[in-house]
Amino acid sequence: MPSVLLRRAAAAAVAALTALAVATPAAAGGSTIGSPGLGDPYFPLAGNGGYDVRHYSLDLDYRRAGNQLDATAVITARATQNLTRFDLDLRGFTISSLRVDGAPAWFTRDGQELVVSPRRLLRAGRTFTVRVDYAGQPTEVIDPDGSSEGWVTTPDGAFVVNEPQGSPGWYPANDNPRDKATFDFAITVPKGITAIGNGRLVSARSHQGRTTWRWREDSPMAPYLATATNGVFELRVSRAGQIPLYHAVDPAEVPNGAFDRLAAEASVIEFFSELYGPYPFSSGGGVVDHAPEVGYALESQTKSQYDQTPDPSTVVHEISHQWFGNSVSLTVWPDIWLNEGFAAWSEWIYDERHGGQTAQQAFDASFARPASASFWQRPPADVGGPEVMFSGPVYDRGAMTLQALRVKIGDRAFFSLLRDWYHRNRDGNVTTADFIRLAEKHGRQQLDTFFDVWLYQPTKPTTW
Ligand code: TRP
Ligand code: ZN
Repeated sequence: MPSVLLRRAAAAAVAALTALAVATPAAAGGSTIGSPGLGDPYFPLAGNGGYDVRHYSLDLDYRRAGNQLDATAVITARATQNLTRFDLDLRGFTISSLRVDGAPAWFTRDGQELVVSPRRLLRAGRTFTVRVDYAGQPTEVIDPDGSSEGWVTTPDGAFVVNEPQGSPGWYPANDNPRDKATFDFAITVPKGITAIGNGRLVSARSHQGRTTWRWREDSPMAPYLATATNGVFELRVSRAGQIPLYHAVDPAEVPNGAFDRLAAEASVIEFFSELYGPYPFSSGGGVVDHAPEVGYALESQTKSQYDQTPDPSTVVHEISHQWFGNSVSLTVWPDIWLNEGFAAWSEWIYDERHGGQTAQQAFDASFARPASASFWQRPPADVGGPEVMFSGPVYDRGAMTLQALRVKIGDRAFFSLLRDWYHRNRDGNVTTADFIRLAEKHGRQQLDTFFDVWLYQPTKPTTW
């Protein structure tokens, strides 16, 4: 609907509103314009202010030939301030219609910002819906570290992974881990292609040569953890206790033993459920695609995404992220060690309890790096920027921090700390400061120096 002319009009209206917001004393205490970003130190424009998403309903029709996505997103959100205008994050695509509460709304595009001006003011506290009809080729996002994310095409479909900023390449989002929401997916693909969203499979129905796969994730999920990976897959459904597990493997990876690797998930889930507390979600599983050029796996909520057949330790790593990373989420990206350090240490404790090397042996091996090694120049909680957010120290020195803490406060306090960390923050968001506070409580001691040395100093720790 909105023509170029209408968009210009919207821009003018928006400019007028901005002026108004600045000029009137009433607005001075609270603008009615939702901020275009949440100010994350690494990705300042990711996410938007002024509202809180409750639910995404994503209807995606995809044809690999031509890489064409034809989609409707219906977003249910609650205004957290009076809004005459707010943003979503979306890259590329042509928008054919945008409605707020059923009424056409004005919108403009500005980089990753989709700027929406509803016809009527949305009052603080109101729940509203935004419906976006959009089509085009999804935008693969290249990260500051050079890796590919978002809707990454494969010969037979797409491998869909979005950490940290790929989501706006395929759906309009409030793309910040602070704004978790539930998700529904209806993904329509040619018959013979399997499409996999997060959560439980609701139905798969074919009609006139195409199949619509419906999935539902009923636990709050950070936008970067959404997936819609599709292609030729063999799908097997099993259970871990009461929980359905969905395992999808690209036929090219079946001979590499992918199903056997995924089969281990059930016992890994059981192990971490005992160690950390009950598994956070109502389903689980994993997808092994054949996309080796991606070069990493991702812990997408309930369905880890593997670019190829994973090592057993990678399965352990991604499963542990369901607790630490997915259920207990970071608030700002510089705290990424709260995800990766915990997942790396989870691999260590898994080995320790399964007849492998102890976590202390893993610590010792890592600690043996000479003080001159560049490894020690990047402290995990202040690693230096988005281009190194997935670098070795975030994982290894993050894990070492936890192991050193374990030795410092003792097993009893340490394991109760990890359980409490999960229990209190389930479905929530946390910061490094929150962790330090809780560690001091369980450890019954002041740990400022300990955490300063391990998390913030760009040198090899000597005493702590
Ligand atoms: N979080 C992923 C893991 O460790 C890794 C990851 C996600 C990653 N996105 C990335 C690594 C981009 C390198 C580049 O399980
Ligand atoms: Zn990880």
